[in-house]
Amino acid sequence: MVVRTIITAPDSRLKIKSKPIIDMDDTLQTLVDDMFDTMYSAPGIGLSAIQIGVPKRVIVIHITHEKDVLGPLVLINPVVLVTSEEKAMYEEGCLSLPNQFVEIERPREITLSYLNREGDTVEQKFSDIYSTCIQHEIDHLHGKLFVDHLSVVRRNIILRKLSKARRVARATV
Ligand code: NI
Repeated sequence: MVVRTIITAPDSRLKIKSKPIIDMDDTLQTLVDDMFDTMYSAPGIGLSAIQIGVPKRVIVIHITHEKDVLGPLVLINPVVLVTSEEKAMYEEGCLSLPNQFVEIERPREITLSYLNREGDTVEQKFSDIYSTCIQHEIDHLHGKLFVDHLSVVRRNIILRKLSKARRVARATV
């Protein structure tokens, strides 16, 4: 198991649309293991494969800091079937947007179809932080970041801050 490098914005790879998994092979199992290691070491509560540069529809989630009722989740080729009209607001962060936290409103509940790690098709309802986190990760699969839910002005402020932070970090090495 390997901790991989997480891509941070701005980076064109984060805009790639990820492709579905077709073979449930060893490469996929290794990818999932590495994604968990990378997420835990960051630390974070969710990670999409594209964030480590793999444009595949694979998400890992482990809500460790809230009521951890579901444990670690592996969501392969997820599709949102139903979203609730009711919304919930959470302050979101993202491992690809270090140190940026913004309140984003999303549907409170979703019904999701996905393949689990064993390749079984699962249909499951998720609510509150699980719903938010899964929608955030599915956005990554579509090449979208949470800042894309904001106005252009607010988005650019955040992206400029990140570019500047990266330049400063490079200059100090
Ligand atoms: Ni993210």
